[in-house]
Amino acid sequence: MDALRRTLLVNLLATAALAQAPDEAAQRCTRRISQTLGVGYRASLTSLAGATPQARVRTWLESRDAITTFAGFINSRFNSQPGANLAEEGVPAAVRFILTNKKPWKELFVGRYKINHTNNQITEDATLPALGYFGSLGWQKRYLGNAPDGLMLAAGYRTMQNVVGFKLIPSPQNGEGDATATGRERAECRGCHFDSPYGLDLVARLLPRKVGMGGGARAEKVPVTPQTLFNGVQVRDHEHLIQVLTASDAFLFRTCRLAFEFVSGRAESACEAPMFDRCVDAFARTGMMQDALASYLEDPQYCEAVP
Ligand code: HEC
Repeated sequence: MDALRRTLLVNLLATAALAQAPDEAAQRCTRRISQTLGVGYRASLTSLAGATPQARVRTWLESRDAITTFAGFINSRFNSQPGANLAEEGVPAAVRFILTNKKPWKELFVGRYKINHTNNQITEDATLPALGYFGSLGWQKRYLGNAPDGLMLAAGYRTMQNVVGFKLIPSPQNGEGDATATGRERAECRGCHFDSPYGLDLVARLLPRKVGMGGGARAEKVPVTPQTLFNGVQVRDHEHLIQVLTASDAFLFRTCRLAFEFVSGRAESACEAPMFDRCVDAFARTGMMQDALASYLEDPQYCEAVP
């Protein structure tokens, strides 16, 4: 090769490399997305290969690191304290299972799967009730609570908090006076325990009951009677409860709120309503958490916004 042709070739390669090198905006965008997802920044930058960062979102979302990061985030939002042991820590394993196998997000709550309580391995089992991790012994034990009548009020509350983001600040007087179902009917208690569309006692009546004491306490399935909840819905049993919750608009909003908080580290504000609506549309269409997350991460505004 003569000198001139070699120079031309070198120039050509340099120009190509320049076109490939991510510019400052692409670097910033990659940094923001990779930090959010917990995927390495340098590796992400390298993997761009000429694409724009936001065109790579779907691929990054599939990575094991991103799935692990997201599972940890969901766990922190669904449980206010760490579990007492591995058996009580099934939620992140269940989230990883749903995302890795590209199942609809709702399956987390209504899927028929078993969580092995010694290693949190998950296996599908069509003979199980459609209760997601709510059916697992570890989760039920974690939220047995200590109501004197065995009603699993804590589990009922957690279920609604997890699926639709329902939030109550339990009364500091919970322990005061008569804590039984009769006691909970008192005026100062019944607002949360009976008279709300989400009455805690009514919900707990659909759940298994706590039997036994101390370390030997466990949840036991009991026959239940239908309860009227959510402004007039007759809810038949535990499975039906989760089915009703996951079919509600509140579930769509809860999911897009969680997704927003994950991608931005805070709750959404009023001026982000259009973005939020696009998430709700995307999620309502496919039921996939990946689509909820991507609706934000692929939005041009996501990379324009100065964090
Ligand atoms: C502001 C709503 C609210 C009010 C008012 C309220 N509670 Fe509760 N209560 C809750 C919530 C939420 C839980 C579930 C707490 C949890 O997740 O551990 C709960 C749980 C309980 C439990 C089960 C505790 C456990 O650890 O299992 C008892 C017993 C109880 N409440 C009794 C009462 C009594 C008695 C009153 C009235 C003096 C009362 N509550 C008033 C919201 C309320």
